[in-house]
Amino acid sequence: MSKFLTGIKSTGRPHIGNVIGVIYPTIFLTKNEIFKNKFILIANLHAITNFKYIKKNKKNAYNILAVCLACGIDYKKFIFYRQSDLPEVTELLWFFSIIFPYNRLKLVHSFKENVRKKNLINTGILTYPILMAADILISKAELVLVGKDQLQHLEIARKIAKKINNIKQIFTLPKAIGIEQLIPGTDGTKMSKTKKNIIDLFASKKEIKKQIMKINTQNKFSNNKKDLLKDNLYQIYIILAGKKNKEKITKKFQMGYQHAKEELYRFIITKFQSERILYKYYIKRKNKLETIFKQGAKKMKKIVNYTIYEVRKAFELIN
Ligand code: TRP
Repeated sequence: MSKFLTGIKSTGRPHIGNVIGVIYPTIFLTKNEIFKNKFILIANLHAITNFKYIKKNKKNAYNILAVCLACGIDYKKFIFYRQSDLPEVTELLWFFSIIFPYNRLKLVHSFKENVRKKNLINTGILTYPILMAADILISKAELVLVGKDQLQHLEIARKIAKKINNIKQIFTLPKAIGIEQLIPGTDGTKMSKTKKNIIDLFASKKEIKKQIMKINTQNKFSNNKKDLLKDNLYQIYIILAGKKNKEKITKKFQMGYQHAKEELYRFIITKFQSERILYKYYIKRKNKLETIFKQGAKKMKKIVNYTIYEVRKAFELIN
C-alpha cells in the first residue's frame, strides 16, 4: 500500500484551473486504489516566497481547505496539513541544502522565469525546489500529483533522495502520477492568479460573468470545426463540459461567441451549484477548518518525527 501526496500553494482561493487540475484528479486517482495515507499539504511557506502573499496567508489556507471540502474531498479519509505546522520540513530543507549544488538550482525553469520577471530574487525563490523536496520526502510518499510545471521539482526531490540514500538508506523514490489536466486561462495561457486570467468558481455570479466575458476568442467568428478547435473559449467549454458533449457545445457556437459565453456562464453556475453552496458553508466555519488542520498536523508529527530522527542519525547528530 502506497502513500499519495499533493500540495497546493496558498496564493488565493483556488480557481477553476486548480479544481480541474488538482482537486478533481485527487478525488479520481484515490477513488479505487487503496492508499495507506493520502496527504494534501497547503504550501503556505512556498506562498510567501512572493511577499505579497504574506497578507491573507492564513485566510488563503482556510480557503483552500474549504474549496477541497466543497468539491467533495473527504477530510476523514485525507490528511490535510499546513507546511508551517511542521517545522521538521524546514529542518529537512537544511540537510537537503547542504547536499544539493546551488548551480543546479540556478538552472531550474521556475527560477529562471522569476529572474526574467522580477528584479529582486530572494534566496527562498532559489531554494524553492529544495523545500518542495522536503515536503515530498518527509512523508515518504511514493505517488505525487503535480502539474507539468512542477515535474522538474519532483525530479530534484528524487535526486536528493538518492544522494541521501547513498549516505544511508532512508527515502523511497517518489513518482509523479496523473499529470495535471490544464485548462487555459481567459487569455489562453495557463490559468494563474498572478496573470489575472482566472475563472473563480466561488466568486459572486456577477464576478464570474465578468471573467467569462473576458475570455478571448479568435478575432473573427467562425463556427467551422477546424477554427473552433483552435478557439480558447471552445477549449475551456469542452474541458468543463466533457468531450462527450462536443456536438452539443459546437451547436452553442453557431450563434456566435457572445451567445456561447452566456451559455458557458449558465453551465458553470448550474454545474457547480452545490460546490458554491458548500464552500459558503465551510468558509464560515473557521473553527472546524482549524480543527482539521490541527488534527492533520498531529498525525503528520508522528510520521515526520521518525524521518527527522533517521536523517539526524545519518548526519551523526544524535547523541
Ligand atoms: N510547488 C507546488 C505548486 O506550486 C506546490 C507544492 C509545494 C507541492 N509542495 C508540494 C506539490 C509537494 C506537490 C508536492 O504547484
